Amino acid sequence: GTIDLAVIPGDGIGPEVVEQALKVLTRAAGNAGLEVAPTEYRLGAEAWLETGETLSEETMTRLRGHDAILFGAVGADPKSAEVPSGLIEREILLRLRFAFDHFINLRPSRLFPGAVSPLSEPGEIDFVVVREGTEGPYVGNGGVIRKDTPQEIATEVSINTAHGVERLVRFAFEKAQSRPRRKLTLIHKNNVLVNAGGLYARTFDRIAGEYPEVSTDYLHVDAATIFMTTDPARFDVIVTDNLFGDILTDQAGAITGGIGYAACGNINAEGTAPSMFEPVHGSAPDIAGRGVADPTAAVLASALLLRHLGHEAAALDVEAAVERDMAGKGTAPRTTHQVGEAILAE
Ligand code: NAI
Ligand code: MG
Repeated sequence: GTIDLAVIPGDGIGPEVVEQALKVLTRAAGNAGLEVAPTEYRLGAEAWLETGETLSEETMTRLRGHDAILFGAVGADPKSAEVPSGLIEREILLRLRFAFDHFINLRPSRLFPGAVSPLSEPGEIDFVVVREGTEGPYVGNGGVIRKDTPQEIATEVSINTAHGVERLVRFAFEKAQSRPRRKLTLIHKNNVLVNAGGLYARTFDRIAGEYPEVSTDYLHVDAATIFMTTDPARFDVIVTDNLFGDILTDQAGAITGGIGYAACGNINAEGTAPSMFEPVHGSAPDIAGRGVADPTAAVLASALLLRHLGHEAAALDVEAAVERDMAGKGTAPRTTHQVGEAILAE
């Protein structure tokens, strides 16, 4: 078979890390008897400065036709005055997430051998956060009245639908069922956010009945942040809403050695549009152009992409190569290209 792949390298270190990831992806797919047919799309702050376009309808239509999207990072140097703050991220990243219904934001967190956790006794960290991607307080349902007066009122209403919560929770149970420990933790704040939290808890408890092999528990989000520092090994699969998931996954990235190793999938689990896989980090203008960005997160994103498309063996192949590279890498600084080549060799 052939993987019809859209590639959006983006800005800054995006193209640098994507080049390495695409190389590893192509090799792993090849080992599994698959061909990768990439189509590159030039999107991001630099492209916007040249063309005045962030993401046209025509490009959206073309992107929709691919099997999956490999995404680097977009965004200008925040110090640059030419690009309005957040414009590129909103009009490209958020737009793709909503238009392609990426209702699952999947973030595995694993402490690889050789990675350095800031925790003194991290234990075995190997969990997956299943974060909601299209609802909650991020939908833009709010506004400001009496702006710039002492009576200003700002609202940001969290939207949670039975449909949205059900498909999220169901995905999380399937994920937990497929992993050896079969454990699922719901994280919310349902003692205070009784309406949204109640919908989550009731949906979770109802669907739990269909998965008797999965053990379940519940944590309030504030307590969850404590456990993520004191006992991260307790987690297997976490399911949570958009906002809590955003915060928890940054904390999860920090305890597993930092931003250079964190990958995520923006997944449309119903298959009605292509899913998109990316390193969690941004365009890193402070190191862009120097060839020193760590491409590992982008490489791990390509493993998530392979897994999503059903090529589990190829995904494991990539992850095992990263694991061997991390274990043997030593402490000398390496260039982006050197890391990519080392993973390829593994
Ligand atoms: P950033 O993630 O780009 O950089 C934060 C820090 O981590 C920097 O010191 C950077 O050098 C370092 N870093 C990031 N990735 C690295 C890698 N692979 N290897 C080594 N070091 C790495 O976040 P920042 O600086 O807040 O944002 C820069 C731009 O990226 C902004 O325009 C921001 O809006 C955008 N951004 C885009 C994202 C995306 O496309 N998904 C996500 C986050 C930020
Ligand atoms: Mg975030």
